[in-house]
Amino acid sequence: MISAVRASQRLDSRGNPTVQVEVETNSGIFRALVPSGASTGQHEAVELRDKDASVYGGKGVLKAVQNVREIIGPALIEKKFNPQTQLKEIDQFMRDLDGTPNKARLGANAILGVSMACARAGAAAEGLPLYEFLRREAGASGPYVMPVPFFNVLNGGVHSGNTMAFQEIMLAPVGATSFEEAMRMGSEVYQTLKKVISEKYGAPATGIGDEGGFAPPITRPEEALDLLETAVEKCGYTGKIKYAMDPASSEFFREDGDYDLGFKDKTPNVVSPAGMQELYSRLMTKYPIVLLEDPFAEDDWPTWTAFNKTCPIELVGDDLLVTNVERVRMAKEKKACNSMLLKVNQIGTVTEAIEAANLAFSLGWGVFVSHRSGETTDDFIADITVGLGTGHLKSGAPCRGERVAKYNRLMDIESQLKAAGKECLYAGESFSFPSKL
Ligand code: PGA
Ligand code: ZN
Repeated sequence: MISAVRASQRLDSRGNPTVQVEVETNSGIFRALVPSGASTGQHEAVELRDKDASVYGGKGVLKAVQNVREIIGPALIEKKFNPQTQLKEIDQFMRDLDGTPNKARLGANAILGVSMACARAGAAAEGLPLYEFLRREAGASGPYVMPVPFFNVLNGGVHSGNTMAFQEIMLAPVGATSFEEAMRMGSEVYQTLKKVISEKYGAPATGIGDEGGFAPPITRPEEALDLLETAVEKCGYTGKIKYAMDPASSEFFREDGDYDLGFKDKTPNVVSPAGMQELYSRLMTKYPIVLLEDPFAEDDWPTWTAFNKTCPIELVGDDLLVTNVERVRMAKEKKACNSMLLKVNQIGTVTEAIEAANLAFSLGWGVFVSHRSGETTDDFIADITVGLGTGHLKSGAPCRGERVAKYNRLMDIESQLKAAGKECLYAGESFSFPSKL
């Protein structure tokens, strides 16, 4: 039973306020910190900000904190909910209490903090690690799958100060044999990449972006991928490490239906949807790219559908789907993509995130778990990745505490599973469809 619900305003990895929630039960005190995006999708659940420009530049979350303290907390206590058996009911109750389709009244940041803390409370009451509890909640079974970590080692878009329009260029160590080995490979390439960038552009170019990746003065995706090729080759991992990209193209989609790859520069570089498709096809032919996320804008459905007809790799909807079952159904109908990005704060409860993942699985799609660019040291998404058996996640570069917290937690989970003699497979090349392992 929940005896207290507390909330406070704390800071995220960009130094902006975020919500912290503590749920107290007879098993202990369970905390959650809520993440926050920069390239947020228009259709995401509402993150409540105070909008008082004189305090934290308008980014305060005291209203959301107050909603937890004064509305959600007392109501959950009064209803005598038990997180051990009633996470779904708790989440549904909070949705009803909010009463809007997008959590605009109480705030998805308020609701999610409570939902995550309740999941932790439930796991503890049940005497289970969080991933095991979430696995049960999701009805997942079979061997445990450790994900391929997708490391965002070159940052552009709205996550860095360079002129590269594409937001994320990632490394995927698909040729590793365990999660721990994948971490080693990713970290070695990351450190080598730093040297490669320093030699080419000078030491000041090794500064990092919001997700811990480097942000050298490059503009074109080919420049980024060539840097990766060099670093991967120097480390001897050619063929074992593949690439992925999240252009986060809603950020540079124009009202006239074209894309402006020069949006961070003063000079426009306008490309038509057909031109963007050609660009991606060219890049996929030239480099071993295994996953493409948000190559087109969140409402540019016809281009998604056209590209998906022949796209040979995992095509992930992030802003397109916003972890929302309604958007997933629309995308299925339009045959727009073949994978869903899972961000818990896009939808605002753990239960709904699990439902969206289960729907995606049932459609034969991939599910790719993701952090946000504004993160905290909360490592919840590591457990949800193993709990759902998604086979891959992205949590930024192997650098910066808030990014590494998730990777470290995953290494802990892998060693715990192995020590307990449980069947535990590394997703490797099968990251899109780990159930086929
Ligand atoms: P965001 O970036 O957290 O700023 O939205 C992550 C992403 O686009 O995948
Ligand atoms: Zn994205």
